[in-house]
Amino acid sequence: MRQATVYIDSSALQYNLNRVKQLAPHSKIVSMVKANAYGHGIKDCLAALDRTDAFGVACLEEAIEIRQLGYTQPITLIEGVFSEDEMTHVIQYQLECMVHHAQQVEWLIAHKNAYNALGLKVWVKLNSGMNRLGFKITEIIAVIQRLKAEGFSCVLAMHFANADADHPLNEQQIDQFLQVKQACEPIMASCCNSAAIFKYPELHFDFVRPGIMLYGATPFADKNVHTLDLKPVMTFSAEIIALNHIQQGEHVGYGSSFTATKNMKIAIVSVGYGDGYPRAYLKPNFVAINQKLVPVVGRVSMDMLAIDVTDIEAEIGTRVELWGKHRLVDDVADANGTIGYELLCRLTQRPSRRKNP
Ligand SMILES: Cc1ncc(COP(=O)(O)O)c(C=O)c1O
Repeated sequence: MRQATVYIDSSALQYNLNRVKQLAPHSKIVSMVKANAYGHGIKDCLAALDRTDAFGVACLEEAIEIRQLGYTQPITLIEGVFSEDEMTHVIQYQLECMVHHAQQVEWLIAHKNAYNALGLKVWVKLNSGMNRLGFKITEIIAVIQRLKAEGFSCVLAMHFANADADHPLNEQQIDQFLQVKQACEPIMASCCNSAAIFKYPELHFDFVRPGIMLYGATPFADKNVHTLDLKPVMTFSAEIIALNHIQQGEHVGYGSSFTATKNMKIAIVSVGYGDGYPRAYLKPNFVAINQKLVPVVGRVSMDMLAIDVTDIEAEIGTRVELWGKHRLVDDVADANGTIGYELLCRLTQRPSRRKNP
């Protein structure tokens, strides 16, 4: 059987959840499990995260899956409903809505009796400068006042555009958030994703919303997971399926883009872009074998890639870590001009999935 396997380390996930608890001891944790738990597989991740206070997802389908797996924690639909008919499911599955535009407010109010009877909170999104979702500062106070008057229990919510960096917009976003919070007291509040959980302890408020840090990848460009004391949850691995001894001047792979500078031993590994391993890399890229970094050479193909094992012991069947504890997904992402989030989420259905390496 072809070996390209994704292993999920549940104890690492629990460790990272505990890190959030340590960092934000006075806040409830809304664990973000959208996009199939950032590509990790929702079922195993929910089991490991069962001590979280709540879950956050991007759509009804993701929320219903969580309910069907038997979890009863609050679930926030972070983009709210996309049409009024989804409100029936919101009530049926007891889901909490974000509202970010006027129509959603009307849809919610039309179902206020059932919604409020279930004790569901409504999350009201402030657009404080990211200009993605939310009410502007000039609109949101009236929205919140109206929702409160209709009996809703509101959470003021915001998302940072640059929590991972020092950017002037951060101060503007914080300033607007605090202004609205003050004008709407008493109100619950939530504005911290992973990067902000680290960066702004004073802004943790009632709910923090960690995503990437739970999975043991970094939200920052300049800090790795070891520095942040997080543990990678996913190990993506494959096996060597062929070994080639090539002479100086010979080429490897499509486009013959790699030329041997000396006589070399090249191993072919059973993974490619058909599994979700990225093809385009801008910087030298590596895999790990027995905790040592080994260079990737030539172009990644759909089912295979080539590595230079001239100086290491390697044979058919040797396991290769594409990313995991020794080759961080963030470093693979950096070599490929992207972020760990994307690589984790865009794995295909093809690799087999197992618990714990
Ligand atoms: C509204 C909201 N909150 C929290 C998160 C979690 O962000 P991160 O994965 O950076 O922690 C996201 C992710 O996109 C989000 O959209």
